[in-house]
Amino acid sequence: MTVQKQPGPMPSQPLTFLRRGQPVTLPAVPPDRTLLQVLREDLHCTGTKEGCGEGDCGACTVVLGEAVDGQLKLQAVNACIKLAHSVQGQAVFTVEDLGGTHPVQEAMVQCHGSQCGFCTPGFVMSLFALYEDTGGGQGVDHARAQAALSGNLCRCTGYRPILDAAARMGELPCPAGARVDEAAVLRGLRTLGGARPDAPYQRPPTLEALLKARAAHPDAQVVAGTTDVGLWITKQHKTYARLLDVTGAAELRQVETYPHHIAIGAAVNLTDAYAALVAERPSLAAFAHRFAGLPVRNAGTLGGNVANGSPIGDSMPLLIALGASVVLMRWDPKRRAIAHRELRLEDLYTGYRQNVMRPDELLCWIKVPRPAPGEWLQVDKVSKRFEDDISAVCLAVKLRIEDGVVREASIGAGGVAATPTRAARTEAALLDQPWNEDTVMFASAVLRDEFRPISDMRASADYRRAVLGNLLRRHWLAHQGQRGLRLETLDLEALA
Ligand SMILES: Cc1cc2nc3c(=O)[nH]c(=O)nc-3n(C[C@H](O)[C@H](O)[C@H](O)COP(=O)(O)OP(=O)(O)OC[C@H]3O[C@@H](n4cnc5c(N)ncnc54)[C@H](O)[C@@H]3O)c2cc1C
Ligand code: FES
Ligand code: FES
Repeated sequence: MTVQKQPGPMPSQPLTFLRRGQPVTLPAVPPDRTLLQVLREDLHCTGTKEGCGEGDCGACTVVLGEAVDGQLKLQAVNACIKLAHSVQGQAVFTVEDLGGTHPVQEAMVQCHGSQCGFCTPGFVMSLFALYEDTGGGQGVDHARAQAALSGNLCRCTGYRPILDAAARMGELPCPAGARVDEAAVLRGLRTLGGARPDAPYQRPPTLEALLKARAAHPDAQVVAGTTDVGLWITKQHKTYARLLDVTGAAELRQVETYPHHIAIGAAVNLTDAYAALVAERPSLAAFAHRFAGLPVRNAGTLGGNVANGSPIGDSMPLLIALGASVVLMRWDPKRRAIAHRELRLEDLYTGYRQNVMRPDELLCWIKVPRPAPGEWLQVDKVSKRFEDDISAVCLAVKLRIEDGVVREASIGAGGVAATPTRAARTEAALLDQPWNEDTVMFASAVLRDEFRPISDMRASADYRRAVLGNLLRRHWLAHQGQRGLRLETLDLEALA
């Protein structure tokens, strides 16, 4: 067992995780210390690199292993914005653990996948997660590799040799011990406990415990995947003496299916939440792929996206168009029971990143209606980078067209107002109108006029307005069968 002493003026608590099959314990880690700081500064494992410090480059990628329903779930995440205590009781794999002879590393060498080498540990760890996920790198083509590497940037090698390495790794001999021994890791995890209930970083294991902790500490900073909050720490240098992590609550990590809706727990990560949305509506696959990159989707949650309420957040225009609602919950000490209320998603927001949540309330569920017969849905995101970038403008349109007439219209827009919003005037312009080019041109003009977007580094106000109207026209063309305009027909491989 490795024990590391660490002084610090902040409140702190012990942290234990599994590494190379052994528990690693640090006796006093402040609640807002990042996993990257612990690895590089406390454990002196400097193989994991720090590039951007904001989840954008992937240099800090590590792989986490967690027991989920008795199975080991391995996922690549960005250590720079992952809080150290969020990995309490989990297994952490870093590039040092691969030992230099792993087939992933050998394939990178053979395919000349590294030049200056700064990004290489991050690429290797993303490939390691893919290697494990594909039973030893079997059947990995460029598209699969590109999806796995969507959170990694390389400034000098170029991506083709790295994609070649991904395809090659499965063909190389796998030395003894290269594959993760799932049973051994699960055994190791069972020996690790959770944090003390009164610790400054709390991750309660049940919904009731979580809501009670929220009631007891309404001043605590609530966190989920910290793909937003992590940047407040690394970039805005905010410090937090008390943090409440919602991702331990087993109930909130479930997706439940009912006859008329699915309920996505707020702590379901974006990878799984979008998988559930895509299972209901396969046409969303291309949009889901464009939410950040894989390590951010593995850590970030749908609840965090919705609760953060960024006007350029991607999920909300879609969820508004789908007619989603949110369930807020709190512990009622008088009734000694959980109290809840449900509201339409768009009614959650009161202003720029402001919402109606009480200090003792948490966002617990996002309820998404299931597809109705005749539903037509299109959602488009316009951003500067294809992957790993937030929207300048996002438009989601859901229609029901009967006998050539628009009978239902539901439109969510992002990037055009202080909050994610419904385009109510445009919906009215479409409703009960013939679904033809004249109606669409008129509705596009209404849509352009409906909002007063701001100019910022992502786009000017004029650009945003123009794009918004164009997207509606694009949706119309897509509906008419001009599939060349649909994002899912883009050749992702050609963009490599
Ligand atoms: C590189 C990068 C790329 C990104 N790309 C995109 C993108 O393409 N599209 C996009 O929309 N976003 C993007 N993001 C932003 C971010 O990933 C999302 O907003 C994500 O969903 C946040 O979820 P989280 O679990 O990490 O939230 P956290 O960072 O943990 O929390 C965010 C906020 O929500 C609150 N919160 C979290 N859970 C709850 C809860 N259950 N109840 C009450 N409050 C809660 C927290 O208090 C905090 O205020 C990106 C971020 C990075 C770093
Ligand atoms: S250092 Fe760039 S993603 Fe972490
Ligand atoms: S090898 Fe230099 S940044 Fe990728």
